[in-house]
Amino acid sequence: MTDASVPGREVLLETDRLWLRPWRVAEAAIHRELWTERDERVPPHRRIDADGHPTVAELAERIRANPPSTTGFLAIERKDAGDVIGYCGLIEGQETPGEPELAFELFRRAWNQGYATEASTAVLDWARSSGYERLWATVREWNTASRRVLAKLGFTETDRREADPLYGTTLFVTRRL
Ligand SMILES: CC(C)(COP(=O)(O)OP(=O)(O)OC[C@H]1O[C@@H](n2cnc3c(N)ncnc32)[C@H](O)[C@@H]1OP(=O)(O)O)[C@@H](O)C(=O)NCCC(=O)NCCS
Repeated sequence: MTDASVPGREVLLETDRLWLRPWRVAEAAIHRELWTERDERVPPHRRIDADGHPTVAELAERIRANPPSTTGFLAIERKDAGDVIGYCGLIEGQETPGEPELAFELFRRAWNQGYATEASTAVLDWARSSGYERLWATVREWNTASRRVLAKLGFTETDRREADPLYGTTLFVTRRL
């Protein structure tokens, strides 16, 4: 892995097939395409609304305002094709300060080729090198693919779950680094 722990240096992670690096403002439209592919069971605040929000400009502003530090979202770029296939990263946990949440999302065309697992492995190393000792993830009970990725990465389920009859129960899983 490229050394991502040097303060002030842009985060850059490398795996066999992938680069993980900050989103570029010019890639806001690509980011928005991911939103358009989301499952209908994803809650409305994470979907494009009837008025088209978030717009490309709004997502560009979010990218500009949130450069990754020890947490943040990293665009996943394939080394061979040079295309961005999604993102993987860490969100500072609301419930558990100092124990961020792992998150990932890929374009459908890139699913089931091991990319989320490969990208997450690098993000786990990044988290470890930043000094974190435990990570969390939240996943809807119906999301078999995401649950499988988390299991492959060594996350285990806890007793904590939040029922939601509309969009599905959220499971809280965790992994010590
Ligand atoms: C979750 C997601 C990132 C997985 O990405 P991916 O690159 O396809 O993941 P991987 O290829 O590394 O692993 C997927 C695993 O799930 C399995 N899987 C996928 N769909 C499945 C299904 N419907 N039923 C059972 N297993 C399934 C695959 O077989 C694979 O497991 P295996 O290696 O044991 O065969 C991708 O599906 C996605 O972007 N989903 C939408 C966003 C999302 O749900 N993000 C997570 C929110 S918690």
